[in-house]
Amino acid sequence: MKKVVLGVTGGVAAYKAAELARLLMRGGAEVHVIMTPAATEFITPLTFQALTGNPVYVNMYADRSGEKIQHIDLLENTDLVVIAPATANTMAKMASGLADNLLTTLYLAARCPVVIVPSMNVNMYEHSVVQDNIKKLAGHGCQVMDPEAGELACGVYGRGRMPDPLDIYAFTRAVLRPKDFAGVKSLVSAGPTREPLDPVRFLSNPSTGLMGYALARALTERGADVTLISGQTHLQAPAGVNKVDVTTTEEMFDAVFEHYKESRLVIKAAAVSDYRPLEVSEQKVKKSDGKSMIELARNRDILFELGKEKGDRVLVGFAAETEDIFDNARQKMDRKNLDLIVINNLKEPGAGFAVPTNRVSIIDRSGEVENLPLMDKEELAHYILDRIARML
Ligand SMILES: Cc1cc2nc3c(=O)[nH]c(=O)nc-3n(C[C@H](O)[C@H](O)[C@H](O)COP(=O)(O)O)c2cc1C
Repeated sequence: MKKVVLGVTGGVAAYKAAELARLLMRGGAEVHVIMTPAATEFITPLTFQALTGNPVYVNMYADRSGEKIQHIDLLENTDLVVIAPATANTMAKMASGLADNLLTTLYLAARCPVVIVPSMNVNMYEHSVVQDNIKKLAGHGCQVMDPEAGELACGVYGRGRMPDPLDIYAFTRAVLRPKDFAGVKSLVSAGPTREPLDPVRFLSNPSTGLMGYALARALTERGADVTLISGQTHLQAPAGVNKVDVTTTEEMFDAVFEHYKESRLVIKAAAVSDYRPLEVSEQKVKKSDGKSMIELARNRDILFELGKEKGDRVLVGFAAETEDIFDNARQKMDRKNLDLIVINNLKEPGAGFAVPTNRVSIIDRSGEVENLPLMDKEELAHYILDRIARML
């Protein structure tokens, strides 16, 4: 993300735009803020000036450079315009092509993507005129981020609250992603499986699903049609993803094969159990003196079976290894007919289970190993997709 124009209008959520400006800056963007005169009643231009290090624009006729026309000059090399919060008033003007202040004028001249984040009282938001204007703006190519439901500043409950700046930031990043997976039917598995011993106990592993969910989100951002087969996690499914919840490896096997046929890309990031207790007690097992044994049965190998019926699909697997990392991964790749294998070295700090970062190596069909530095899982997800995009 390079240059972003952040438009702030006169809504009570204008204070949250300061946090959004900070997040955009932290994400590496050069941020230029335009405020409507009404917005300055809620938060001062000085706040944005201090946060962005750039002058804040309010008055269309203020002569700053002596040579350039502000709304045209500001748009030069701009990658994105974000209007957050977007008032009912500003959206009405934008929808009818009015250009009576710097922000509405700039909107008409913008040729880059425009994100709007409506925010207002629930009755205002649900008014048919406001809804018509939002639809109209979407029809004109604006990317509209829906407001959240919850307690509003006016004390009532309903839809109209501006989403968390972090979510708006994620939305803006998604808008700017290349849509190089447009329409690609993709199947991602994520999270741990649980193999019950009795009604209250199970065998599992520490996977939280972060890596698989990051891949599902990244695929959606890049236009793919994603089904996410997920073990039990505390994560929220990325918007637009078809999520299928499962518990055991056998359930995951069935769910994966139900969606396999129509998938062009399959990424198996779940941490599945190879074994399950042979007997599952219907009642909670009582403790007794002395040793206790659990007999295990082998689960079906999902990735192996997928590999047998691969056809022209792209099949990507993950390996979590603690020894002979590359030899084990190469063997797994051959045995399971994979196109790409992503290897977590579980002994590396910051890698593997339950952390937001990962340090991996990638091996492709040529056998070449690429060792990647410690990366945020979101960033790594996009990196892996860059590699896959070349194969599709
Ligand atoms: C305290 C207060 C809070 C307001 N909050 C909102 C709001 O959240 N959303 C909205 O659409 N209008 C809100 N308004 C009304 C706008 O400020 C008003 O429509 C104004 O003309 C918007 O101008 P602008 O779109 O040029 O920024 C609020 C007004 C006041 C006095």
